Amino acid sequence: MSHPQSIIIPNIILIGLMGCGKTTVGKYISRTCKLKFVDTDQMIEKQSGMSIPTIFKVHGEAYFRSMETEVLKKIATKKSMQVISTGGGIIIHPENRELLKTLGFVVWLKTDVDTLYQRVAKCTNRPLLRTANPKEVLSKLIAEREPFYQETAHLVIDTANLNVDELTYGILESARVFHHHD
Ligand code: S3P
Repeated sequence: MSHPQSIIIPNIILIGLMGCGKTTVGKYISRTCKLKFVDTDQMIEKQSGMSIPTIFKVHGEAYFRSMETEVLKKIATKKSMQVISTGGGIIIHPENRELLKTLGFVVWLKTDVDTLYQRVAKCTNRPLLRTANPKEVLSKLIAEREPFYQETAHLVIDTANLNVDELTYGILESARVFHHHD
């Protein structure tokens, strides 16, 4: 499939639960459009010199959430267009939801619990899923967070049955329209 590579688009921000494909899709969009790719989790790890599990262990989740706000504010100062992948819980704080909306075109990659579980089951780098029943935790997180993703996103894409190429194409088309009406 050919992509509209030369179009002018705003920052693209990907939100959604762990395992929804933010990093994969974000990197693909950044390669396609030759835009810088940033990941809020990576920024936090770099800034603190600690891995996400260590931050949770040493400082707790509340501290991690405040760092998410900090990195969003930092990204907001950048002039060049970027593709931004975010941590799944970034929408918990109202301040972050407002920041995200002003940063650019926010896309929620909506994914069902079974697909999420399949993708994250083997990873050990997500502290919230280090529990006896990660699938139950994921279901609970979906229920809690879906209203926040919905409220924050300019575009909701159901990722079922779409490959990375199709997702990218859909996102870029909508981003272009969003930009025109912005
Ligand atoms: C979290 C998701 C993770 C990471 C941290 C907390 C969450 O990011 O920020 O483990 O609260 O859902 P990914 O969504 O990239 O896995």
